[in-house]
Amino acid sequence: QPETKITTTDFLVIGSGIAGLTFALKTATKFTNAKITIITKDEQSESNTKYAQGGIASVYDKTVDSFEQHIEDTLIAGDGLCDEEVVRMVVESAPDRLQELIEWGTKFDKNKEGDYDLGREGGHSQNRILHHTDITGAEIERALLAQVNVLPNIDFLTHHYAIDLITEHQVKQKRTKRNSKISCFGAYVLDVKKSKVKTFVSKFTILASGGNGQVYETTTNPVVATGDGIGIAYRAKAEISEMEFIQFHPTALYNPGEYPAFLISEAVRGFGAKLRDYNGDFFMHKYDVREELASRDIVARAIDNELKKSGKPHLYLDCTHLDMEKFTAHFPNITKKCQSLNINVSKDYIPIVPASHYICGGVNVNKKAKTSIKKLYACGEVTRTGLHGGNRLASNSLLEGLVYAHSAFENISKKFDKAKFPENVPTWNDNGVVKNMENILITHDRNEVKTIMTNYVGIVRSNERLKRAEKKLRVLYEDNKRLYDHSELSVDLCELRNLITTAYLITQFSKKRTTNCGGFYNMDLV
Ligand code: SIN
Repeated sequence: QPETKITTTDFLVIGSGIAGLTFALKTATKFTNAKITIITKDEQSESNTKYAQGGIASVYDKTVDSFEQHIEDTLIAGDGLCDEEVVRMVVESAPDRLQELIEWGTKFDKNKEGDYDLGREGGHSQNRILHHTDITGAEIERALLAQVNVLPNIDFLTHHYAIDLITEHQVKQKRTKRNSKISCFGAYVLDVKKSKVKTFVSKFTILASGGNGQVYETTTNPVVATGDGIGIAYRAKAEISEMEFIQFHPTALYNPGEYPAFLISEAVRGFGAKLRDYNGDFFMHKYDVREELASRDIVARAIDNELKKSGKPHLYLDCTHLDMEKFTAHFPNITKKCQSLNINVSKDYIPIVPASHYICGGVNVNKKAKTSIKKLYACGEVTRTGLHGGNRLASNSLLEGLVYAHSAFENISKKFDKAKFPENVPTWNDNGVVKNMENILITHDRNEVKTIMTNYVGIVRSNERLKRAEKKLRVLYEDNKRLYDHSELSVDLCELRNLITTAYLITQFSKKRTTNCGGFYNMDLV
């Protein structure tokens, strides 16, 4: 059922993780007369941010660390594909952004001396990860929500799902030559509880809806990570790039049936944990001199290789030699989770497998967080900023979300006074649709996307695998389009559409890449 009423809002923020909340908080504080609407498809806190364990990388102690070292580590992990100017901007603004987060009430762990306890993760040459035990993301989300929820000019709508952006395409407004870029006028949004499609018209729209880990069978991402932002931006004709760079986290807990996979933070390896093969032997020395602390792409590929060689279902992470008092203080959540499965981390090895974790590519933005579409900004995992290149350095993602939310805020602040509401925006048209009685088809297709991507577009790809994936995804796309065009909308149906779109984009970009680099590996290119 479409709603004939149009809702106007100065800023429409799509997504409620670190990027969306930071943008909303800054904007609502500065423009007290403006209306900011945050829409999120689940509960307020449900986002990838909430599940981040490790922390945020920032140069904190300049006597032992430096911006140059953080920049260098990021560039090395990105394997030649980072934009150095972007890396510098993000790294150098990290301390200020972190300070704001602290002022908003985020508690990072301190050591006995009262200094921040800096953790270490793969690819970092120094300890520079600020963390809150092993639930850093949940702590950040808590602090940001506490701030956002007391601001009277923020309208926070949960269970509201962005279906599509509104552009000239819907408004049928002619683009003049002088104004030849596409513009964004807001979004069509499904109010999930009321089953109504609402029309939100905004002066500025900010995409902060995260990644698409759900395209794979084994993922650390929550079920909400279905690539919605990338899907809707792609349909609105925004520029998208580097979708082939999927980051697989080396160490998700192997626990068949548990979904999504529970993450064993890279900070555990930073703390000294060692990887062992199925027979209990060390193997990382065969792959990289940095061993367990090589960058994530290298460790994940090494594990994948060991799994394929042995034909075993998992490998192990060994923490038994570590100082258990310190370990349980730093990793209480991981310790408790293992205990709940009868794994005593002081005596037993933790069974692990790699899992899809993060997409380095996405919607192109410049340093001001502007997309290629006018009045559409984006920040967080949904974007391709140039920070990560071919492989993201651990704990740089929350940081990127913070820095780009700030960039979007700063840039829009300069334009806000002159911005006007668009006119003649039509409400949603759902003539001719009927209730879909076969939801099971959507479930089957969703599972099929995961199987295709896991089998053919995983850690190791080949030309033949990519061809097969493309063929199968095309069939799924056609089937989904038929269903979508004639059915009453549901979140499941729209999510499937975005999963298929982003899976297809990953496959297409993979087919186009001619050299192996970062997290991308095609065995035919060796
Ligand atoms: C982790 O804790 O291992 C995840 C950190 C990240 O993805 O940057």
